Amino acid sequence: MKVKIKIDGEFKTFDYDGDLNISVVTLLERLDNPIEFSCSCLQGICGACAMVINSQPKLACKCFVNEERMVIEYDEITIEPLSKFPLVKDLKVDRSVLFDVMNDCELWLESDSADSTDLEFEYEMSLCLMCGCCTEVCPNYKAGDFAGAQLAVSASKLVNLESDEKHLKSMKKKYKKRFFNHCVKSTSCEDVCPMGIPTQSAISKMNRKSVWRIWQLLNLD
Ligand code: FES
Repeated sequence: MKVKIKIDGEFKTFDYDGDLNISVVTLLERLDNPIEFSCSCLQGICGACAMVINSQPKLACKCFVNEERMVIEYDEITIEPLSKFPLVKDLKVDRSVLFDVMNDCELWLESDSADSTDLEFEYEMSLCLMCGCCTEVCPNYKAGDFAGAQLAVSASKLVNLESDEKHLKSMKKKYKKRFFNHCVKSTSCEDVCPMGIPTQSAISKMNRKSVWRIWQLLNLD
């Protein structure tokens, strides 16, 4: 089969004739030419191996070659680095901006955690891997002020648990500045999340908590 990998902006084609019942990570490791990419857990829980496979951002350790080679054209697979982050080499990108956002938007608790009112929701939000798949497909995300859906996901988990009013206010203000003012609700983030996180629920919740005053005045959520 043909493996087309985008390297330095151009697709290079590699031949592969081995076992097809393997993950894309294993495929990359078995190619004759060494390809640089990130991976760590190989179990779909660290998010490091996110890349664009057959035009969709996915976790390479969770994608199977047997299934992927049918998507574009039988016996072919295309692999590209995520395009929204600085390229390090080959398929490896620098996603540290996602972690900088956590700092800038104060995504932590200053107080002891309050009792949860919706454990199931918080659990779903805690599944975020910070892999960058959602930012890859977001039509508004590019280098700049917009922080991307992972901000809404992380903040929505904390907003009910924080009882330090000053910190809560500051967190909401950052959300409004770095998310609400930019998002146009394309919903593409939810479509590609490898963990199936309902990002629109996170966004709606944060908008109610941080922006829509009527919700806050009526204390409806
Ligand atoms: S290597 Fe950890 S998610 Fe793929």
